[in-house]
Amino acid sequence: MDAAALQTEALAAVAGARSLPELDEARVAYLGRRSPLKLALRDVRDRESGIALNAVREAIEAAVAGRQEELERAELAQRLATERVDVTLPSQLLGDVQLRRRGTLHPSTQVRRDVEDIFLGLGYEIVDGREVETTRYNFDALGFPEWHPSRSPRASLYLDDDALLRTETSPAQIHKMESTRPPIYMVSIGRVYRRDTIDATHYPIFHQFEGLAIDKGITMADLKGTLLYVMRQLYGPEREVRFRTHYFPFTEPSMEPDVSCFNCGGAGCAICKHSGWIEMGGSGIVDPYLYEFVGWGPEEYTGFAFGMGIERTAQLRNAISDIRPFWENDLRFLRQF
Ligand code: DAH
Repeated sequence: MDAAALQTEALAAVAGARSLPELDEARVAYLGRRSPLKLALRDVRDRESGIALNAVREAIEAAVAGRQEELERAELAQRLATERVDVTLPSQLLGDVQLRRRGTLHPSTQVRRDVEDIFLGLGYEIVDGREVETTRYNFDALGFPEWHPSRSPRASLYLDDDALLRTETSPAQIHKMESTRPPIYMVSIGRVYRRDTIDATHYPIFHQFEGLAIDKGITMADLKGTLLYVMRQLYGPEREVRFRTHYFPFTEPSMEPDVSCFNCGGAGCAICKHSGWIEMGGSGIVDPYLYEFVGWGPEEYTGFAFGMGIERTAQLRNAISDIRPFWENDLRFLRQF
């Protein structure tokens, strides 16, 4: 066989292949098991013709590999050019009716953001708290007596004797007071945990927002004015605020703020249980015990604090009668807000 002529012919065929299938045909014809070259290699008897034929085989193999790479690259370039996607076009119909919908923020998140905006507008700082607290911060620092029922493992979720999931956002007050000196104007928002049985008004996780203002010369009038402003931002400009006396271990005096009912304007309806007022949470004048706890001495500053529920706020604003759907991730609920 004329090895040189075979090589010339094979290389021409490989170079002339215009597609991957054509290249494969050429490969089979010149390198396949029944190709003249392979048959000749099988019959080789002497060393020289063996070397010559193997050199031809290697040359053809290299040519095939090189041509394959060229063809693949060309094919890719062709596909990139023809299958280009314009990502700026409007999205396609999903299934046959529904356009891909934009998600909405969870109703708790919406309230959280509103609360943050309102207090940032008042010059408050937003601070993070800790979801796992020690009894020192969750209770001792806040003046909870030893016998207080919230300390019981039947009421609160303990991790060990000393650590628990915080039952309120109030410990954030102490962390702030320990880390800085007044003036303090802060809000802390986050999850709190209680060992409650789930029903329409209880869930073992919920969110609170906690406010603390400490400065020189702060009075109850500042507390009332601040809450009046915040409630009007949340529930409408017509709202009024009233205080009922109450007890919290870390405020003295302590007050529960009520807001005039945004549904009936105070005349009485089902939402305000026919009282004209809606309970909002807790508040009061910071107990001097807290100043002593963080080492400031009781007399230098005065301040106020308040704490309220995020879900409760979202429920009132959106007329949601049950707290459970806030935690069930049911899109039929969430998509309504
Ligand atoms: N931490 C209280 C609770 O969860 C609410 C509260 C009451 C917060 C009075 C305060 C406050 O900051 O001053 O029931």
